Amino acid sequence: MDNTGPVVDLIREAFHYQSRFEGSTMVFKIDYPVIGDPGFPYLMKDLALLARTGFRVVIVPGAKEWIDAVLREYGIVSRYSGSTRITTLDALPFVEMAAFHVATRVMTGLAAGRSGGHALGPGSRSGAGGGPVDAVIGNFVRARGLGVEGGVDMEYTGMVDRILTHSIGRVLDLGMVPILPCIGWSPAGKPYNVSSDEIALAASTALGAIKLFIVTLESGLRASAYKLPETVQTGENGRIIRLTPQDAEEILAMNPGSPLDELRLALRASHAGIERVHIIDAREEGAVLRELFSNLGAGTMIYTDDYEAIRPLKNRDIPDILRLMEPLMQQGVLVRRDGENIREKKDDYAVFEVDGSVHACAALHDWGEGQGEIAAVATDPTYAHMGLGRRMVRCLIDRAGKQGLRRVFVLTTRTQDWFELLGFRECSLDSLPERKRRGYDKARGSKAYALELTD
Ligand SMILES: CC(C)(COP(=O)(O)OP(=O)(O)OC[C@H]1O[C@@H](n2cnc3c(N)ncnc32)[C@H](O)[C@@H]1OP(=O)(O)O)[C@@H](O)C(=O)NCCC(=O)NCCS
Repeated sequence: MDNTGPVVDLIREAFHYQSRFEGSTMVFKIDYPVIGDPGFPYLMKDLALLARTGFRVVIVPGAKEWIDAVLREYGIVSRYSGSTRITTLDALPFVEMAAFHVATRVMTGLAAGRSGGHALGPGSRSGAGGGPVDAVIGNFVRARGLGVEGGVDMEYTGMVDRILTHSIGRVLDLGMVPILPCIGWSPAGKPYNVSSDEIALAASTALGAIKLFIVTLESGLRASAYKLPETVQTGENGRIIRLTPQDAEEILAMNPGSPLDELRLALRASHAGIERVHIIDAREEGAVLRELFSNLGAGTMIYTDDYEAIRPLKNRDIPDILRLMEPLMQQGVLVRRDGENIREKKDDYAVFEVDGSVHACAALHDWGEGQGEIAAVATDPTYAHMGLGRRMVRCLIDRAGKQGLRRVFVLTTRTQDWFELLGFRECSLDSLPERKRRGYDKARGSKAYALELTD
């Protein structure tokens, strides 16, 4: 066997997502500090690549820190109402200048591929896929003033009135990338400074985006930095891989005072109906592509759709679960089965699906006498330690209870400790159903562990 398996798996995943998302709209809210980061040209290159390969990419650059710097430079002191800047008449031209400067830098980044990638210099980290994409900075946001709030005149600070989806759609249809600076205009042509978070949120919903990416320089959501609910899955380096909106709400409640602005924005987007919101760190090379084209991603995803689920086995899953089980059967960890055995007992099996691919399986066989056997438990090694195995077994225990079984058992040679963690206790072979005892393979010498469901 060669070691190309993981690469091939990655290519499969990438094709799966490419065909699934092609032609879909994705909004990228890019925090201003990202633009000054050495990783920015590579991020732009990846976004240009997506746009050229059929994704409808919309960019909303944040400009807050640059606006602060420009106003400071010109000696204009900003006043705030809460955390919202009051954009005064004298500040407005500078705010517009800063907003468009940032948008232009994004446009320049997207066009950098024009020079065949040389703009990235000889030390370029990412040689593949360079190439230009045209972008349009436009007046895509209809705004209105915030007016007077609690006695405070918000002057030229506005809110999104409407996203001009028709104009954005025309730009996207031409294969170009619309860039939405943090300025909107009233129907009478009066400019307002609008929060880029609000624009990203409004644009995502108005355009029916399937994803909103929040691109930051934060080092992602790490388990070590926050108190987390038990249900939250973490990956390598304690990265929080995905969260349901309920998890996100709990994290915000458990960590009052923590700077979790990205999570707050993600949660709002999720409540507004965006199925998947991704928070990614621009300093990680290829983070957008990895988040988009691989199941495990590179950032944190807040999801509300049927991203993953335990469901009954279908015939078409059989090759997938044989692939999961084959190395384990070879090692003697699992009893040998073939497609025919599995098909015969198809209804006993459940699989754990992540975005259309099967990553774990398990079966519950009813042996009569009120006892069910949990068998063929296998998790894709790439997905190990993420609770898939535990959830599969719990689901089957639940199923056994619903079927009126009084006990579930396993026969195992090497996984007894894991089943003990799940509450199973060693039991005598004599306590197993007669039919099972008759077929017991003495040469294998498995030990029996059981969980009483009636306790
Ligand atoms: C056992 C198995 C299903 C666990 O899958 P999983 O999805 O990684 O399981 P979970 O995430 O729910 O639990 C992982 C925990 O169990 C522990 N664990 C995994 N295999 C174990 C074993 N053989 N013995 C003891 N503990 C084990 C891990 O250390 C891990 O602990 P951590 O999360 O603190 O790091 C998986 O390792 C597997 O496919 N094993 C081979 C097949 C097998 O043994 N099947 C059972 C016989 S029917």
